[in-house]
Amino acid sequence: EKGGYPHFMLKEIHEQPAAITATVSPRVEDGMPDLRLPELTDERLRKIRNIHLVACGTAMHAGMVGKTAIERLARVHAEVDIASEFRYRDPILDPEDLVIIISQSGETSDTLAALRLAKSRGVPVLAIVNVVGSSIARAADYVLYTYAGPEIAVASTKAYMVQLCTLYLFAFRLAYAKGRLSEAETEHLTAELLRAGEVIQPRLADCEQIKYLASRFVNTQSCFFIGRGFDYALSLEGSLKLKEISYVHSDAYAAGELKHGTISLITEGVPVIALATQKQVYEKTISNAKETKSRGARVILFTTKDAVVPDGVADYVVRLDDYEELLMPLQLIVPLQLFAYYMAVLRGCDVDKPRNLAKSVTVE
Ligand code: M6R
Repeated sequence: EKGGYPHFMLKEIHEQPAAITATVSPRVEDGMPDLRLPELTDERLRKIRNIHLVACGTAMHAGMVGKTAIERLARVHAEVDIASEFRYRDPILDPEDLVIIISQSGETSDTLAALRLAKSRGVPVLAIVNVVGSSIARAADYVLYTYAGPEIAVASTKAYMVQLCTLYLFAFRLAYAKGRLSEAETEHLTAELLRAGEVIQPRLADCEQIKYLASRFVNTQSCFFIGRGFDYALSLEGSLKLKEISYVHSDAYAAGELKHGTISLITEGVPVIALATQKQVYEKTISNAKETKSRGARVILFTTKDAVVPDGVADYVVRLDDYEELLMPLQLIVPLQLFAYYMAVLRGCDVDKPRNLAKSVTVE
C-alpha cells in the first residue's frame, strides 16, 4: 500500500509531479487557464472587489501564497484568514467579494463554519477541495477540485502542492480577466505552471543532500525559518511541517521582523533556515541571514541557481534550478518537506501519525 516507500509521507512527496499534472492539465485550454466554472465568467471575475482566503494549517499557508500571487498579478485586494479566527470575528464581507475556502479533507469543522458564515452573508464561496463530495465541496457555490488522490500521512504535502497550483491558475485567470495580464503573459505563466512537475523532479532526486543536512541538525532543540514575501509563506509551512512530525520546536518569522524581538533567541549553534528565492528582496534576506550568522547561528540557505552568496552568510547552501520566480514556491517546498521528513525519521518519530494529531479536524 505504501508502494515500496517506508512511509506514506515519502510516497506522497514523490507523488507530487503526478498530482500537479492531474490538477493543472484538465484546466488548460489552448494554453490558457480555464477554471471550467461556467458561472464564474471573466465578467464576474472582473467585478470582484476583495478576496478572502480562509483555511486552517497547511491549507491556510497555501492561501498565503495565493494571496501574494493574486495581489501581485491581478491587483485585487486579498486577505488570508485562519478559519477559527474568521468565524468569530464578525468579518467585514461584501456581496461583491469572493471567499475562497481551502481544504484537503473538506471536513475541517472551523473551515466549514467559515464557509457557512460567508454564505449566510450572501458572499459567493469558491472551495478548493481534495475530497470529492465532502461537506465543504457540497456546501460551496463553486468547487475547484485538486487531484492529489488520497492523502494518508497526517502531514500534508501533495495536497498543499496542488492547492498552490490551483490558486496560481485562479490568479492567472483573474489577472487576465482584469486586463492585468496580456494573453501572451497568461500563456507563458500557464506553460510554466504546466511544467512544474518536471521542475520538481530534481528536488525529489536530491534527497541525499537533504538527508545529510537533517543528519547535521538532528539533535537540535529548536529551529528558525526566515524569509520575505513568498519565502515567508514557505517559512511558515516548512516550520509547521518540521514541528508537526519531528517535534523540534520551530518558528517562522518574516525576515524583517528579526530585529523586533526574535534575534534575541539566536545563540551559538541554533539552526536558521533562510529562504531567499525572490530577487527583489534577496539582498535584504541575505543581510538578515548574516545577522543571525554573526550571532552564532548555523545557517542553511535555500536560494536560486545563480544567486551570489557572499562569504560569512551560510554554512550550507541549497540551490534550486532556474524557474519562473513567481512559481518558485512549488520548487522550494519539496526540500523543506524532505527536511522535515528526514528529521522525523532520524529522530525515530512516528512520521505518518504524529502524536496528538488527527488527519482531519472535525471538532473545534
Ligand atoms: O483537511 P484540511 O486541509 O482542511 O486540514 C487543515 C489542517 O488541519 C491541515 O492542513 C494540517 O495543518 C496538516 N496536518 C498540516 O500538515
